[in-house]
Amino acid sequence: MSETKDIFILAIESSCDETAAAVVKNGREVLSNVISSQIALHTLYGGVVPEIASRKHIEKINQVIEEALDQAEVTLDDLDAIGVTYGPGLVGALLVGVAEAKAIAYAKKLPLIGVHHIEGHISANYIENKELEPPFICLVVSGGHTHLVCVKDYGTYEILGRTRDDAAGEAFDKVARAIGLGYPGGPKIDKLAKEGNPNAIPFPRAHIEGAEYDFSFSGVKSAVLNYINGCQMKGIEYHKADIAASFQKAVTDVLVGNAMRAVETYGLKKLAIAGGVASNSSLREAMKQACEERGIEFYYPSPILCTDNAAMIGAAAYYEYLNGTRSGWDLNAVPNLKLGER
Ligand code: KG4
Ligand code: ZN
Repeated sequence: MSETKDIFILAIESSCDETAAAVVKNGREVLSNVISSQIALHTLYGGVVPEIASRKHIEKINQVIEEALDQAEVTLDDLDAIGVTYGPGLVGALLVGVAEAKAIAYAKKLPLIGVHHIEGHISANYIENKELEPPFICLVVSGGHTHLVCVKDYGTYEILGRTRDDAAGEAFDKVARAIGLGYPGGPKIDKLAKEGNPNAIPFPRAHIEGAEYDFSFSGVKSAVLNYINGCQMKGIEYHKADIAASFQKAVTDVLVGNAMRAVETYGLKKLAIAGGVASNSSLREAMKQACEERGIEFYYPSPILCTDNAAMIGAAAYYEYLNGTRSGWDLNAVPNLKLGER
């Protein structure tokens, strides 16, 4: 009987404001997960400055990779492949990771696997839920994306719905800025909302006629801004915690509603969430309850695996590796890469 060989993948992620590297064994065992966050730097400007992000990635990437290898107690010689995010994201930021991954793969004669960032977010669920296998529905909610996806098999996705305007995380960040909480707004709204009344202000829940899985968050964002303006014009003091809680509830209701429609229509008994907003406590709670009521298994990653990291890229790269996906030396950054495209 032949023993199956363990597969070690070094994964690199640099699509936005985190420089990250991880070593993942057999797709689900994280040996190291190093993240160098630039958030403090970008906070000064109220959001991510692409030029600064690229320069910081260049500064940090070698150190981050070295740390990931050290913590995993492996060397480049122990690796079976290099996985790297090549899109979507900020082009200059992505290029740093892609160039680095190509250099290592070329020098060590290793397979190179370009990974879609969203496929990474979805795959974060495999790490702590060893029993999770496709098919399942996944709600991906991050700073740049809001997608409702049917994960048909490893590497095979059908996008059921997407946002028509702002991503969920973007709406959180903009509302947070409007009430003076700073960047990134999601975690700050999450915290402040615990002190507020989610039913205090009836912010709108967008439903798109004829596209039951699509989302729109620009309306609720504008409603928050109008509410604040209205209070200011009337000289009424507004309650920030009530705004945070009511806004969060409006967004959560729509996310949960669309996700439940998808699991019911597709007859799938598993639902996962992914992306930075998936660490939101109100969303987790509401989704958990909705799943329990319907006898659906609910999966979610730990907060550190929800926001950008390289372990999730390693998990995705492993299944692409098994599927035979290999990128060429011409692999390039693709800022608007679509899920399921190569
Ligand atoms: O996945 P991610 O790290 O980056 C992208 O790929 O976009 O997501 C970052 C987004 C930000 O918009 C941030 O405000 C949001 O996730 N976020 C949250 C929470 N933690 C992070 N939003 C709501 N509640 C949270 N606890
Ligand atoms: Zn992300």
